[in-house]
Amino acid sequence: MERSVGIDQLSFYVPQDYLDLADLAAARQVTPDKYEVGLDQRLMALPAPDEDTVTMAAAAALPILEGVEDIDSIGALLVATESAVDHSKATAAFVHRLLGLPPTCMIYDVRQACAAGTAGLRQAAAMVALEPDMKALVIASDVAHYELEAAAEPTQGAGACAILVSAQPRVCELEPSWGVHAEETFDFWRPLERITPVVAGKTSLLKYLECLAGSWQHYCDRGGSPELDACCFHLPFGAMARKAAHRLARESGGCMEDLRYQSGLQYGRVIGNTYTASLYIALCALLEQGEPQPGQRIGMYSYGSGSLGLYFSLRVQAGYRAHILGARHSRMLACRNRLTVAEYEQRHATYGAVPEAASMNASPFRWAGIEQHRRLYESRDTLANAMEASGG
Ligand code: HMG
Repeated sequence: MERSVGIDQLSFYVPQDYLDLADLAAARQVTPDKYEVGLDQRLMALPAPDEDTVTMAAAAALPILEGVEDIDSIGALLVATESAVDHSKATAAFVHRLLGLPPTCMIYDVRQACAAGTAGLRQAAAMVALEPDMKALVIASDVAHYELEAAAEPTQGAGACAILVSAQPRVCELEPSWGVHAEETFDFWRPLERITPVVAGKTSLLKYLECLAGSWQHYCDRGGSPELDACCFHLPFGAMARKAAHRLARESGGCMEDLRYQSGLQYGRVIGNTYTASLYIALCALLEQGEPQPGQRIGMYSYGSGSLGLYFSLRVQAGYRAHILGARHSRMLACRNRLTVAEYEQRHATYGAVPEAASMNASPFRWAGIEQHRRLYESRDTLANAMEASGG
């Protein structure tokens, strides 16, 4: 890619409710250190009954769209998810309407487990490089939902991250070299009839690291520079980044020993796994809490079970601090609602069930139910209008 293309803005959304892993540890009769130290996780976000991949995706993108002067300049919306609400209709189709995007905006979903967000980013960047007047919106949105009492239970989470890609990127420029490592594996997968995935936990850790080594090598072979100032990793849980950083140090013969990655863990630690969104929420944390210097280079490792590893790099733009949404994100994380284990288990039991009409999550959008097999969504505005009309 010859022209400068990259991330113009980044915004994420997490549901308002969460479970404290210290409470889960007590309920499961596990020492809290196993979660807090062993996994390096503290809280996990839980979606309300009337929020899902669609509502979270739209909520993540709204703050970005508020700042876009010409909505018609958005020529593509790509949604990356592995928790889609329909086997055929694209999540992007629902989100397109909720966000009021123009009919000239191409819409489709991207899928390759957690790596889909990065695959979407790469496609979006290629489109923008071909048509520099257009912008592309990539939204990664997922709910990580595992069985109660499974080993993976403390690694649940939910959230979405929206990325605006442009030819005048104000936050980070994408560098040209990309490393790829693909290999068919059964480490984590979700057969069509299942709500929860099947997980081969230890295999998944090994594959994550093998794909890191392979994609890193490919990145270097293709001319990617190993001189990086910081790195973000796909984050199923915080301790995975520590393992990844060690592996990268080994693969690079020690020259990546002091790579900064800790500030990228700050949000994921209190949100949990968000699959496709987790790498980009880590990037938000690194930019907003780690405050890299303009011109510094950030390595990015994306992993999707099944399996695909992607390694690429970003360069931080001058003046980026004026375009990040750190204050908004910190406020959202600070104003949340702690559920009890009983409330969490009750919600888990009804996961995916049609919500009660009276409920309303904290975002501007809600899943309102199903009529004639059609999944219906409302925005806060339409809801308020309907209530006013009925005198409610
Ligand atoms: P587990 O059975 O809880 O594992 O499952 P464990 O008993 O090995 O404990 C975990 C760590 O806690 C270990 O550290 C223990 O030593 C430590 P490690 O040896 O790994 O460094 N520990 C303690 N530390 C301090 N004090 C204590 C204590 N007790 C134990 N008292 C596992 C863990 C991750 C396997 C499980 O949670 C799981 O299956 N999670 C889901 C799969 C997953 O997240 N895999 C990650 C790689 S694959 C991936 O990232 C893709 C994914 O996002 C999906 C996609 O691509 O779509 C999942």
